[in-house]
Amino acid sequence: MASRFDVIVIGGGPAGYVAAIRCAQLGMNTACVDAWRDRQGRSVLGGTCLNSGCIPSKALLESSEIYEQAQGAFALHGVRCSGVELDLKAMMARKDSIVSSLTRGIAGLFKAHKITWVTGRARLLPQKRVEVRGHGESGYGQMIDAENIILAPGSVPVEMGVAPLDGRLIVDSAGALEFQEVPPRLGIIGAGVVGLELGSVWRRLGSKVVLLEAQPALLTMTDTQIASEALRLFTAQGLDIRLGTRLVGCQVVGDQVEMTYQDQDGDHRETVDKLVVAVGRRPNTRDLFAPETELLLDEWGVIHIDEHCRTNIPGVYAIGDAIRGPMLAHKGSEEGVMVAERIAGQQSSVNYETVPSVIYTLPEIAWVGKNEQALRAAGIDCRVGVFPFSASGRALALGNTSGMVKVIADAATDRILGVHMIGPHCSELVAEAVIAMQFSASSEDLAMTMFAHPTLSEALHEAALAVDNRAIHIARSRRH
Ligand code: NAI
Repeated sequence: MASRFDVIVIGGGPAGYVAAIRCAQLGMNTACVDAWRDRQGRSVLGGTCLNSGCIPSKALLESSEIYEQAQGAFALHGVRCSGVELDLKAMMARKDSIVSSLTRGIAGLFKAHKITWVTGRARLLPQKRVEVRGHGESGYGQMIDAENIILAPGSVPVEMGVAPLDGRLIVDSAGALEFQEVPPRLGIIGAGVVGLELGSVWRRLGSKVVLLEAQPALLTMTDTQIASEALRLFTAQGLDIRLGTRLVGCQVVGDQVEMTYQDQDGDHRETVDKLVVAVGRRPNTRDLFAPETELLLDEWGVIHIDEHCRTNIPGVYAIGDAIRGPMLAHKGSEEGVMVAERIAGQQSSVNYETVPSVIYTLPEIAWVGKNEQALRAAGIDCRVGVFPFSASGRALALGNTSGMVKVIADAATDRILGVHMIGPHCSELVAEAVIAMQFSASSEDLAMTMFAHPTLSEALHEAALAVDNRAIHIARSRRH
């Protein structure tokens, strides 16, 4: 293997592997170093997203939803099912095969693009050199260097001193994707994105799920109107979300975990069969570089970068979860493309105003841009249009009428400042809002656009019309 490259990418997750592919497309001799190994000990690309995050969780969300529907919702369509049984082993095997087909796909893309895949743990040294410690090796044996280095080390779950992971009863999000049996009682610390998605999976499969959330409100980063609808719907589904609670103690007793938590009424005890810690993620920057490298980080381990992802070291870039901004795969991928193109001399940039967020519960929650409370707090005068899915013919036909679409526009210019939704297939619908905002659309632009009937996206059209109080399929509101 060569030891000198045009670009070395450290990390083969959605930020790093996309950066590597784009660099190769642009004619650069590229290497990508990644330490991930699957349960069989094989080196795999794709990072957290493909191996223990986005993809396996979506596979289980889909399967568990079908299982739950077969038990009840199918009957509403006149489809009677009897003897519905859960085959968790088959469900898990399906998830694993989706993961391995995708990770093999990335390896195939690397091969096709002649990207050198270096397996092992990389550490950045001065003068843009990288040392690599292979699996099973005690020290860093291999040395490579490049004109440009892209750091894409990703993130790891935040651990809690009060609930140390034991890999058996107390696990992180990755462990919660590998349960071999449905835990009768499941505790989750943190009702954030991971807590709600994994809580939904196991509730549908039969667990009694308790979520302990420190904040007094659910999903504080989300538009409050959407978040309160989410709390109402998830509670009705059976998720036991306890807000304003703090885990203060945790004891493993036999095959159970005894949690002690506090809320405004004092101390409480709850016993569960498994406990998932889902209180956020932190940048995976420990041991990423030798101290003499002088890479600048903040006290949380977040790598300092400028608007084009340049670190304080010339020729060294950082992208994805290890830098500022939301820890989202698609944001990291776009940064990877930008950095590759900038190295090639192009003037690319990322539009951070239009990063979509999605929570893959049922109903799904999705948004782009600013929410109403943030705009009001900033003193920005805005107009709001809301359209409920209960008035959508397609949502009725689908049998899923929960939720709404909300469009927020600047009162003076009518430019769309944010779109927030909770409802069926919102993970797909939000793309329409992202495109509109990417092209600086006004709510009138959306209102003047023709949408196919009957589709769920008509709810976005109607919400845009509602900004001007002229939605067709709901009575006019006086909220202007
Ligand atoms: P999160 O930040 O979404 O949620 C963590 C929750 O834990 C917060 O609500 C927080 O208030 C709560 N919390 C923190 N400390 C606590 C304590 N001591 N006791 C009780 N509650 C506590 O982080 P999460 O869910 O772990 O996800 C990690 C990252 O991964 C996020 O940045 C998320 O965006 C990303 N992710 C994205 C997904 C998606 O796009 N659909 C899916 C899963 C993860």
